[in-house]
This record gives sequence, C-alpha cells and structure tokens, in this order.
Amino acid sequence: MKANIVLLPGDGIGPEVVGEAVRVLDFIASKYNHTFEYKERLMGGCSIDAYGSSLTDETLADCQSADAVLLGAVGGPKWDDPTAKDRPERGLLALRKGLGVFANLRPVKVHPALMEWSPLKPEKLQGVDILVVRELTGGLYFGWPKGRDVKDGRERAVDTLEYYDYEIRRVMELAFNLAKGRKKKVTSVDKANVLESSRLWRQIATKVGKENPDIELEHTLVDTASMRLITGPAWMDVIVTENMFGDILTDEASVLAGSMGMLPSASLGESTVGLYEPIHGSAPDIAGKGIANPIGTILSTAMLLRHSLKLEAEATAIEKAVEETITNGARTADIGGKLTTRQMADEIIKRM
Ligand code: IPM
Ligand code: MG
Repeated sequence: MKANIVLLPGDGIGPEVVGEAVRVLDFIASKYNHTFEYKERLMGGCSIDAYGSSLTDETLADCQSADAVLLGAVGGPKWDDPTAKDRPERGLLALRKGLGVFANLRPVKVHPALMEWSPLKPEKLQGVDILVVRELTGGLYFGWPKGRDVKDGRERAVDTLEYYDYEIRRVMELAFNLAKGRKKKVTSVDKANVLESSRLWRQIATKVGKENPDIELEHTLVDTASMRLITGPAWMDVIVTENMFGDILTDEASVLAGSMGMLPSASLGESTVGLYEPIHGSAPDIAGKGIANPIGTILSTAMLLRHSLKLEAEATAIEKAVEETITNGARTADIGGKLTTRQMADEIIKRM
C-alpha cells in the first residue's frame, strides 16, 4: 500500500526518537512491500524559532491531508517564559484540535523483565494491562472563558472545564468499543461529587453503559482512581476520562511500566487521520546525546500501522520485536542500560 505520513519531530529528544522510528517504518515498507512517503515539518519550539508560530497553517493543512502524523515531543526551557504569546504546547493542542482527534489511547503494559524498574512491588504489577482513553479535545484544556485579567484590583486567571454531551458520548462509545476486544470492563473516571461537568460525564457514561450490557461499567472518582493505579493496577482494564484527569493519570500509570520512555499513544477522531506520539516529553536534559529510549515512538508507529493504515500484521511484528528485544536484555539508560537510541532501534529491527 501507499501512505502519506507527516513527521513532526519537534523539540528536545523528539528528532532522535522519530529518526529511529522512521528507520523501523522503512524496514516495514521494504519487507512488506509498502510505500511510505514522508513530509517532515516543524512544530513546537522549533517552529516558533523558524516561523514565529508553534504551528503554522501550512503545517496543519499538511497534517490534515495526510494518512497519519507521527510526532516526537515539544517544549523546552528556551520557550518556557510564562508571558510569551506562543508556546510549543499551544501548537500541540492546536494540532490535536485541528485534526479533531478527540480520543487519546494510552496502553500501559508491564514487561516482566522491567518490573524491577517500577517503584511498585512485582506482585502488584503481575497482569497489568491497562488502556487509558483520554478525552483530548475538550475539558479543562479547551473550555471558555480562559485567560488572565485584573478584577477588583486583583490579578486573576481563569480556566474552564466545559463539556458538551456529544463530546462525552463519542469518547465513551469508543472506550466501550475498545473494551469489547479486551476484558469487557470500563472504568469511567470523574469528580462527580464536586464538578457539574463530571455529573454530566457520569450520566452519559451510565447511558452508554445501558446500551452495552455486555460491558461492566464502574464509576470511580479521580482521586480514588489515582490511588487504585498504585494499590491495585492489575484490576483495571479500560479507563475513560476527562482531558486533564487523563493527562495526570497517564503519567502516573507510566511508571508501572518502568519508564515513560516505553509507552506509545494514538490519538483518533472522526476523520481517518490519526496522530501518534510517545507519551514522554522532550527531555531537554538528555537531548542531543543520542541516549533516549526510542521504544515509545517505535511502538507508536505500530499503533499508526494498526489504526490508520489497517496493517495489523506489520503492527504486531513491531510489537513482538520490541518484546523480544527487552526479553533479551537490551536496555537504554532509562531502564538501566548503556545502549544508544540508535543501538536500541538496531536491536529491534534485527528481530523483525
Ligand atoms: C501529554 C503532554 C501534553 C498534554 C503537553 C505537552 C501539552 O503532557 O501529551 O500528555 O498535557 O497533553
Ligand atoms: Mg502529559
């Protein structure tokens, strides 16, 4: 098959990990006889430096007309001025919104060989296989009003947690559909004892639950959910939640896997173009050293092949190769080894 993929390496370690993921894609293309055409574009801090904007209209248009977008990471101390008009993160949020990718899938699996890298006891990690479905284009990140002003002589800042019924329903339905191919259990996370938006969330979750009687639905408050992720993660399967709650819970969940560097994500929406990115950030402290773990990005390409290009066998081939590579003891610095980003990718490609 032929596919157009936009690459947005971004800032910090982004270009290093995306570079290795592209080598994996190229290997897949030659082995399985596909043609992947890449357009590489700037997004984030690098785009602010080059064009004065974290996401230009042209880049967004290129992404919208692609089959899939592969992103590295954005941000860094250079662009951290709180009074700056534009920030790298704004570009990422505008991209998610512009692509309409309302559901962010963040799978968390624990490889047995990496259990010692998790702060949790191994017995707590047995059987952990979680899929967090984070709502991505609404909630506290996008609600209006938002901003700063001076009121009654006081400086004030406002963010709004806003949801429409249809925004909750579509992500909820997607979570239920995904649960069908798994353990048939959905945990809907909210703060319905305090927030009005969460009470609407819970109401719609309950409705969608009734429409899917084969799926077990439970409601959990976000504070309890954050505790349960540590005390009993093996008990959770599909978690569906608000944008900001999902942002926080997925960083927490990532430590179960031993390192954030291991975890991929896929952002999907109504159109066919998907956005794929590792869940880690730009890691400015190790940027340019060639030692970042490329696995989160490589596994994101597997999700890209599966969800956007419907190439299940190719996706599985990557995931199996990563698993074998870890079983064989290949380790980058974040998981206690000395391999470079390139060497880790070589180990994976070798097993494909
Ligand atoms: C993530 C990141 C982003 C988010 C930042 C970089 C805007 O933390 O993808 O989880 O908050 O969504
Ligand atoms: Mg985050």
